[in-house]
Parts: sequence; structure tokens; C-alpha cells
Amino acid sequence: MSQQHRDLIERDRKVTFHASTHLRDFAHGDAPGRVITGGKGIHIVDKEGREFIDGFAGLYCVNIGYGRTEVAEAIYQQALELSYYHTYVGHSNEPQIALSEKIIELAGPGMSKVYYGLGGSDANETQLKIVRYYNNVLGRPQKKKVISRQRGYHGSGLATGSLTGLKAFHDQFDLPLAGILHTEAPYYYRRAAEQEGMSEREFSQYCARKLEEMILAEGPDTVAAFIGEPVLGTGGIVPPPEGYWEAIQAVLAKYDVLLIADEVVCGFGRVGADFGSHFYGIKPDLITVAKGLTSAYQPLSGVIVGDRVWSVLEQGTAKYGPIGHGWTYSGHALGCAAALANLAIIEREGLTRNAAETGAYLQQQMQAAFGDHPIVGNVRGVGMLAALEFSVDPAKRQHFDAAHKVGARMSAAALDENLIARAMPQGDILGFAPPLVATRAEVDEIVARAERAVNKVTDQLVREGVVKASMSVG
Ligand SMILES: Cc1ncc(COP(=O)(O)O)c(C=O)c1O
Repeated sequence: MSQQHRDLIERDRKVTFHASTHLRDFAHGDAPGRVITGGKGIHIVDKEGREFIDGFAGLYCVNIGYGRTEVAEAIYQQALELSYYHTYVGHSNEPQIALSEKIIELAGPGMSKVYYGLGGSDANETQLKIVRYYNNVLGRPQKKKVISRQRGYHGSGLATGSLTGLKAFHDQFDLPLAGILHTEAPYYYRRAAEQEGMSEREFSQYCARKLEEMILAEGPDTVAAFIGEPVLGTGGIVPPPEGYWEAIQAVLAKYDVLLIADEVVCGFGRVGADFGSHFYGIKPDLITVAKGLTSAYQPLSGVIVGDRVWSVLEQGTAKYGPIGHGWTYSGHALGCAAALANLAIIEREGLTRNAAETGAYLQQQMQAAFGDHPIVGNVRGVGMLAALEFSVDPAKRQHFDAAHKVGARMSAAALDENLIARAMPQGDILGFAPPLVATRAEVDEIVARAERAVNKVTDQLVREGVVKASMSVG
């Protein structure tokens, strides 16, 4: 490593508190650092000049790829005119107006207004406040509980970290908060032994039954909303089993429970449709967007409010006065300008269609490379989202002992191949979410590098006696 790069990392260790990082190890030099300095297309480059394929588009957000000067130009032009003025009490800016029109057009019938934030967590915080307000206005103060899913990911604040159904986001933070519950994850591959013989459709019915049982046990008059990602993201990149959303929505309708679709990952093309909700036939009352909205060229999130909820919010302010909710940076002009330029690129270059077509190719190539691999138990995905789940005995769907850290080792081996693929939490799962601009040739390169990495770790595991010698791929 160059002295310059080393010096930068040393300075960083002294002063920065990094997200999702082993704080002690990083601060004391026992965990690696890296300074990223640039990017172009699906590649990023570090201070060393080492180039990586970013097979995860940052955190599944840089959908149009890196280095798009058109977006930089739009931000610059807007900054010259007006960087910021608040959007309280009816103040607006031109990019915000145009962006809201565009989002409502893309979201489709039944969607009414957009409220802006800066990231997915704050947008879901807004969702929780809307749900409370809605039921208070309707005179149902007891109808407040929100049901999320085990392995759902909805942010890492106090309330949104509670919605998240992952252990590391709860432990030591005294979460989840009261009134936030978690139902069965739609994770067919990890179904319990009692559900072994179920078809995907039967498993979806089972998930819907578990949800209904939870609503009945809590009391339907206490359950306000259900939140879910169309495709489970950080919880493992798991497309829903067949018939899942249809079965879930029938239960929600029966008990008058609002549906919040968290489209932070799926929105704006990633699954090969404008929204995951369109792809899976979901009719949400509220939608959360972030990430792909600006492809991360600026921080921006949105809550899209459907007609049914909007009319109640209006009634509320008629009764109580202006709504007590607002962020300083809501509708920030630079974020909105970046989003407009980003959405224009997605439309002009047909990136949603590319996510469907090149995405189908990605799924095909992943299956071809790993479908029969001796330690890959499940190859799954949709559009430009894919995952490999490792298993010590795929025939029995048997997981590795967590102590072997197989997922993390796979991700590290991919990095040695200059490929970024993410080790997902709670399991040995390697996730892929390349920028939507990826070509077939780039997909081939991603799969080839992943194959070398997976084979390398497989052979290490054979040598360590963790898996049988017959599983050697060397
Ligand atoms: C589905 C989903 N919702 C919400 C969030 C939280 O977004 P942020 O990290 O911008 O707060 C994420 C982040 O990964 C996400 O994947």
C-alpha cells in the first residue's frame, strides 16, 4: 500500500466513527481500511489506483453507475441558481415540483403526494408517524402496532431499527420498541423442518396464516400497518415465494391494516420494473423510496402517499392545524435536481429494461456457474439482484457453522479478485446488486470472478476438513 494511502487511513482511524464497523479493531489498526477516490460505470478505484468491479452498486444504490457528469452538471447548475430554501408552509423549488410529478407518474394510479427526506431510515420514520396520525384522525387511537418481518430491513434508527428484523440492529440497543412486531420471513429456502414438504405456494399461505394469527392474537383493532420490501434485501436478497404478496394482501385487507411497501432497494428499476410493487402486483397505501431515486449522487428519500391515506391527512390538518412533521432538508433543491437527472438517464438509456434483460442473463449465468456447485445450496435473484447461499450439505439444506464465517470469507476472496460482493448478515450469503448499466460482458466478468473466489474458499474449506474432500473443486 502506498504511503499516501496508509497515511489517509491512519488519519481516518483517529477521527471517524464508521457505520457497521468493528469499532475497536478499526480504531486500533486491526481491521483494514480503504479510501475510494473515483469511479466510472460499474468500477470504483481506490487511492492506490486499484480498480474493482462494484458488484453491489455501493449499497445497491448507484443504479446509473459511477462518474455520470450529467448528474454532476445538473447539481452544479441548480447550486448556481438556488442550493436551498426550506419547503415548510408551502414553499417550494422548481426541481421539487417536477420531481414529485415524475414520481407520482411512475408510481401509478392511486398515489397522490410525495414527502421528501434524506435516506431510507428517515423516510420510514415518516411512514410510522403517518400511520399514527392517520389512526388518530380516524378516532382509532388504539390501532397503532406495526408488523414487519423477520429479516426485513427498514433502517437503523430507534423506530426504523425496530422495524428491521435483524439481531445486530436490536441487541445492545434495547430494541425493538414496543408496538413493533415481526412475522415470518418469506424465505422459502430457510423454511423450518415442519414446512419441509410445502410447495412455494403452500409456504406463502403459511406465511399469510402466521400473519393472520399474529393480528388476531394482538387484536385487529390494535394493528395499524404492515411493512415489507417487495424483495427481502439486506435480510438475504430473497425474492418472495410464489403467491406471497397476494396471500399477504388478502389478510391485510380483511383487518383494515395499511400496507407500506419499502421500495428503497427495488424502486426505480432494480427488479426490471419501475417498482417492485408493479412487478409483484402489490397495491400499497404508502411507498418508501431512496437509493435509486438519485443513484446516490445526492442523499434523497421519499414517502409516496396514496389517495386513501392522503385524504385522512387532509382531514387531520383541517381539524388540528398544520402537520407537526418536517425536516430542514426536506425537498432539498440539489437532491431533487440530482434525482431528475438520474431518472432522465434511467428513462433515456432504458435501464429498467436492461435490469430485466441483462438481469435475466445474470440469473441464468449464476445458475449455470453455481447451480450444481458442491457448497452452494441456493442460487436466487430477480432483475439485478442475486444471491448465493452456501451450505455444508446442499442436499439437506444444512447451514455452515457460523464460526467458519463462510460468507465473510467468500466476500474477502471476491475482493482479492477485485470484485465487490457483499456478505449478507445472519447466514452465509453472498449478495450481488450491480449497477443497472451493467452489460452482458460485465455480467460474465462478475460471474467469472465470483466463481474463482467461491472455488478458492471451497478448496480452503476442504483442506480445513470443514467440508468433505469429495467437494473439492480444485
Ligand atoms: C429496504 C430498505 N429500507 C430502508 C433502508 C434504510 O436506508 P438508509 O440507510 O438510507 O437510512 C435500507 C438501507 O439499506 C433498505 O435497504
